[in-house]
Amino acid sequence: MNRKEFILKAGLGTCGIVLGSSLISSCSTTQYLSLEPKSEGVWEVPISAFFDPEKEKNYQVLILELKGLNAPVALEKLDQGYQAILMQCTHKGCTVNRGGGMFTCPCHGSEFDAQGKVLEGPAQKDLLKLTTQIEDEKIILSLP
Ligand code: FES
Repeated sequence: MNRKEFILKAGLGTCGIVLGSSLISSCSTTQYLSLEPKSEGVWEVPISAFFDPEKEKNYQVLILELKGLNAPVALEKLDQGYQAILMQCTHKGCTVNRGGGMFTCPCHGSEFDAQGKVLEGPAQKDLLKLTTQIEDEKIILSLP
């Protein structure tokens, strides 16, 4: 998936795109990053990515394009720790949208809460959560 496809797939078309660095776009509360895996099924996200020094702005959520996965990942800063949710619907695999404190699927209407738990079908399974671990100012993400 190239950057344009990622932006469109993640429903981010209304956000500005910054080319020429790993930062590809940002909106008011969300920052967008594209990352290569550190090793198979493992990605490292610098904690500093939640802060934009130029805008002096803290972000609550990073939307990540993790090379090797078929859908974006929403990495959210929680009161304690971080949560990473694969934005791929568990019904038929469409990319879900994030907004209003929940995830919604544009294909057949499934809804998931902010933790990825199914609220409304046809999806029967919760969204996949990646494992998060803090190491040396980095968040290590891995497939469960
Ligand atoms: S693919 Fe998401 S509800 Fe069907």
